[in-house]
Amino acid sequence: MTNRDILLAKLKAEADRDINIRALFAAEPDRLSRFVMREGPLRADFSKQALDKQGLDALLDLAAKCDLEEWRAKLFAGERVNTSEDRAVLHMALRGVGGTAENQKEVAEMRAHMAAYANAVREDGKFKNIVHIGIGGSDLGPRLVADALEAAAEQSLTLRFAENVDGASVNDAIKGLDPAETLAVVVSKSFGTQETKMNGESVRDWLGEFGSKNMIAVTANRDRAENFGIAAENIFDFWDWVGGRYSVWSAVGLSLQIAYGADVFAEFLDGAKAMDLHFRDQPLQENLPVMMALVSVWNRNGLGYGSQAVIPYARRLRKFSAFLQQLEMESNGKSATREGKATGLTCPVIWGDEGTNGQHAFFQWLHQGPSEGRYGGAPVDFVAVLKDHEDRPAHHAALLANCFAQSEALMLGKDEAVVRAENAERADIDALAPQKTFPGNRPSTTLTLDELSPTALGHLIALYEHKVFVQGVIWNVNSFDQWGVELGKVLANTILDEMGAGETGDHDPSTTALMGMV
Ligand code: F6P
Repeated sequence: MTNRDILLAKLKAEADRDINIRALFAAEPDRLSRFVMREGPLRADFSKQALDKQGLDALLDLAAKCDLEEWRAKLFAGERVNTSEDRAVLHMALRGVGGTAENQKEVAEMRAHMAAYANAVREDGKFKNIVHIGIGGSDLGPRLVADALEAAAEQSLTLRFAENVDGASVNDAIKGLDPAETLAVVVSKSFGTQETKMNGESVRDWLGEFGSKNMIAVTANRDRAENFGIAAENIFDFWDWVGGRYSVWSAVGLSLQIAYGADVFAEFLDGAKAMDLHFRDQPLQENLPVMMALVSVWNRNGLGYGSQAVIPYARRLRKFSAFLQQLEMESNGKSATREGKATGLTCPVIWGDEGTNGQHAFFQWLHQGPSEGRYGGAPVDFVAVLKDHEDRPAHHAALLANCFAQSEALMLGKDEAVVRAENAERADIDALAPQKTFPGNRPSTTLTLDELSPTALGHLIALYEHKVFVQGVIWNVNSFDQWGVELGKVLANTILDEMGAGETGDHDPSTTALMGMV
């Protein structure tokens, strides 16, 4: 057993008692002020978690013993905290925080290059459409932000995305567009990703005579982009110290800057910067990303939950859970420590969909389903936007009412005695009552944004980025590599080559049979 295992076992023992969330409100008169935190337009209410002061103290103690403050200092200083790839991790430098003078100089140059290009495209007016080509971190962040910003800003161009290698993806992206009026932005940190290369080639073919002029690239591998045929002056750089899933703040967000303008993009970065400074400077017990991470560690390692739902009650944030799946699961879905030892429990499964839609799908399970977690169901992060951006006050009030009601219902539940009283006339009451009973005491956090502004969105995404870092420190995993995605890529290339040559290669019987059907 490592020291870390002992610390986490102690935490589990600490959580191994019945905690009643409702009772905590009575027992802790200052609960709301203790468990609510705000940074700018983002407010987080952790008071409906099955966590009391004693549990929180244990978590803060755990964080201190895992040297969280030292790790945080190393991160912002630009030390090579991505140990397995021997890289610094400085997406915060893209927002103007941390790193060296050299990093900041590079960022300033990139931002000037982006702004000049985006402004020129917007002023020129030749391009009416952007097709953004990329996958994973080169897609999910830009796509989330593209949707979300529509609330508070206007897109001046049509923005489409092609990510999947499925031909439907590229076909949908170019459908109805005129190549003469379309700018293709090929985004790939490595410029070696199969899906992006193939989509890039198909769009280049579709652009025809405009191919060389109407295509630009964003990459950390200039040579490959040039070999692909992109002119050197049309290549926007980013660096190995920006992880793909942390890259929307870099030139990876160029399509957003073109579509929404430099001011909107700058506000988005400033929102994240405010969260960076909060995370860097606030003491652990008053630190929002730290609190968010500690609550998740409590739910995972203390209460034994294997999944975490994220439900934005905001149509324009409907990609948020998909974005977080990569951010959290690619970062912390690991079972080996930095030292190569086995970890304990790490990242839960992240899942979700927009509210209210989810209420009519999987909320049945959230309210009454069993799970390996101590109180059943799964912890939920609710995300709501207070301002109505749609000029539909009645809709907005109903949306918020549903959001607030769900967290209340998860916590309150409904006692069997009440069900029995309500259904006393039923002859089958003994069978019915347990089916209509809600156990309650199911934990949730509610995040509210004052409005869905670029600034607020920047706060929200940076909050989760830093949460992931803190979790990684506590679980002792490197949150910035992703070795687990490599094996499938290698095998896909082998199978593709073999199928192309009409061979079945050396595979298991199931795979051979599948290949034989194509
Ligand atoms: O396969 C996973 C991954 O490497 C992600 O980490 C990354 O965001 C995505 O592929 C796309 O990579 P690239 O930007 O290099 O095309």
